[in-house]
Amino acid sequence: QELQLNIEQIEKGGYEHFMLKEIYEQPNAILDTFRGRLLANEGIIKMAGIEDNMKKFLNADRIIIVACGTSWHAGLVSEYIFEDLARIPVEVEYASEFRYRNPVITEKDIVIAISQSGETADTLAAIKLAKSKGAFVFGVCNVVGSSIARESDAGAYTHAGPEIGVASTKAFTTQITVLTLMALRLARAKGTMSSSDFRRHLIELELIPEKVKKALESDAYVETVADIYKDAKNCLYLGRGYNFPVALEGALKLKEISYIHAEGYPAAEMKHGPIALIDEQMPVIVIATKKGHYEKVVSNIQEIKSRKGKIIGIVTEGDESVRDLADHVIEVPDCSESLSPLLTTIPLQLLSYHIAVKLGKNVDQPRNLAKSVTVE
Ligand code: G6P
Repeated sequence: QELQLNIEQIEKGGYEHFMLKEIYEQPNAILDTFRGRLLANEGIIKMAGIEDNMKKFLNADRIIIVACGTSWHAGLVSEYIFEDLARIPVEVEYASEFRYRNPVITEKDIVIAISQSGETADTLAAIKLAKSKGAFVFGVCNVVGSSIARESDAGAYTHAGPEIGVASTKAFTTQITVLTLMALRLARAKGTMSSSDFRRHLIELELIPEKVKKALESDAYVETVADIYKDAKNCLYLGRGYNFPVALEGALKLKEISYIHAEGYPAAEMKHGPIALIDEQMPVIVIATKKGHYEKVVSNIQEIKSRKGKIIGIVTEGDESVRDLADHVIEVPDCSESLSPLLTTIPLQLLSYHIAVKLGKNVDQPRNLAKSVTVE
């Protein structure tokens, strides 16, 4: 047993938990996911799974994304990216819901299955169903040779490396990376993006690992914020547009490892319910980066403030307006709106990590949860 402990310590590479190690691995994991695919100087994206099936992608009526948990959140971010950049209609489905109803699927549909483990039973069953109806299935998995990867007609691996912590971190950001590369490649092929715009996106994407590193520098400050809110009973996470799924993911991370009840909401929906919950006890984490409905989010923040909610703003470096209103602000570097989830998710991962550690919870193996859910 002692030997086992030592091996684990070596595997953690000096970090106290796998989750923290994996959070810090994200700049490199994203780089590994780019490798050989993103050739920014040449203005090219190379992805064999797309090139070999380009006709199918170009003729597709729509894309249906199926996934569970954090991978489903990556699917939601991708919906915005595919629709915005490549103008392809996208539906994002919980694999478990999709498979048990009688979904309308045709040969002109492309189903993208997103799964870190490649073993999630519901996702696997969903793609088998889609295949039986003639859809083309594209897998985005992390584990090489996994069941979903094998069952798919084609695919692209995220190259995140092994993820041990049950709460998914680097799998999420590398999934978004792969799906962004796919959307950009298809946008170029479909002509929905000018070549200069395409190039600008590639260059921006190439800068992301450095910016993730910058975002990680907020760690010590996030820890002080965690100390203040660790005893909260409920938390609300708000975001709009590309950052609405990030709000969902932030809330999921907190629930999973700290057992604090948390909900993610589109910021504008706050007035249709969650606003009733806001009082001086309620921490509200608001993603309020400069690009993407900034003014609207600022007015949401004003509404929270007038009800005495505690505001933690995730803002773009140098932000002034939110700083004036919020109790705490956590900065991330500036970047284009479509890439912002890769940065805004970092402080939310750190926040849930530090809260769980301070509460003495088992961060890497939270109660009742499994890394890979192979039961239905
Ligand atoms: C479990 C894990 C989550 C994960 C989900 C989907 O619930 O605890 O972290 O997001 O399964 O897993 P997958 O391997 O399909 O991405």
